[in-house]
Amino acid sequence: MMKLKVLFYHSKRENILAKFDLDYDVCKCHSVQLCEILHAINDRGAKTVEDIGVMTDAGTSCRCCVNKHLDNNVVKLPLYLDDILNKLKKG
Ligand code: FES
Repeated sequence: MMKLKVLFYHSKRENILAKFDLDYDVCKCHSVQLCEILHAINDRGAKTVEDIGVMTDAGTSCRCCVNKHLDNNVVKLPLYLDDILNKLKKG
C-alpha cells in the first residue's frame, strides 16, 4: 500500500504531489515520509512548517527540506515542505 501514489490517497487538488510515492522521504535528516507530512496537515491540523516540525521533526535540523532558499545542496531537492503546504492551502 505504501507504493500507492498520492493521487490515489488524496483528491486531485494535490496532484502536483502525484509523482511522489507516499514513502518518499521529504526530510532526509529525520527520514520523514510524505505520508507523515500529509497526515500532519490533513489529519492533525498542521498549518505551518513549524507545526509540521513539532509533529514530525521534519525541517528541524539542516532545514534544507523547508524551501529552495534554505536548500544549500548543489543538487536541489525535488519537493519541499513549503511546496506541500502551499499546494494543500490553494486547494
Ligand atoms: S533534510 Fe529536513 S531538516 Fe535536513
